Amino acid sequence: MSKLLFANWKMNPTSEKEAVRLAGAGDAKHVVILVPFLFLSAVKKTLKRARFGVQNVSWEQEGPLTGEISPAMAKKMGAVYSVIGHSERREFFCESDAVIAAKVQAALGAGLIPILCVGEPLSVRRGGRAAAKAYVEQQLSADLSKIQKLKNKKIIIAYEPVWAISTSGGGRETPKDAAEMIGFIRSLLTTHYHLHPIRVLYGGSVNAKNLGRVLAMKEIDGALVGGASLDPAGFRKMVKIAETYQ
Ligand code: PGA
Repeated sequence: MSKLLFANWKMNPTSEKEAVRLAGAGDAKHVVILVPFLFLSAVKKTLKRARFGVQNVSWEQEGPLTGEISPAMAKKMGAVYSVIGHSERREFFCESDAVIAAKVQAALGAGLIPILCVGEPLSVRRGGRAAAKAYVEQQLSADLSKIQKLKNKKIIIAYEPVWAISTSGGGRETPKDAAEMIGFIRSLLTTHYHLHPIRVLYGGSVNAKNLGRVLAMKEIDGALVGGASLDPAGFRKMVKIAETYQ
């Protein structure tokens, strides 16, 4: 499986002009840019090779939900992917596993590929690896609970330990530990859900310095990159590194 780079811009940048400039830096075949809704149209026009997606969608395709964007809308704009259940959505927007499960179902229903994020908080990780695995296993089972016949569904899982996201030190999770958890996630998805092959990403302070070590792990099929995707020069370096894994 080739390794993909997913750029999660989060609530950045603040202007369309900057969004277009950033998109230019990541316009490569093995890149997916996860764009704020307002810039979808401009980014779509800019990209020649990379695909794009959104960072969140509603659990409904249309209706009276003020301020929401539906999977059907995103799909019609050309989005291929939607992040679902990012830890920032879980924490700051109080998204429960029930809501996330409904969003996964709606995204699939509209023909989007969900990038379902899972990962344990620091309090759980302090209890050891077994506790972290149990936590992630419970998240997966709750978040995929609405999907019947997962076998033929296209879905991506991103393992992002909450405590490794947005750390200026460049991530405290070692690639080896991340690979072990990702191997565990893959085995769960294969045995319980018959999802195979399945792409599982790692995310959490991945940058130009550590990307090579992350992608070198055979269990890890790509990286979900937040902060480091906002620096055009740095991201260009990351695109080059990922290119060696195509
Ligand atoms: P980060 O974000 O690379 O800034 O840690 C990753 C993510 O939250 O998807």
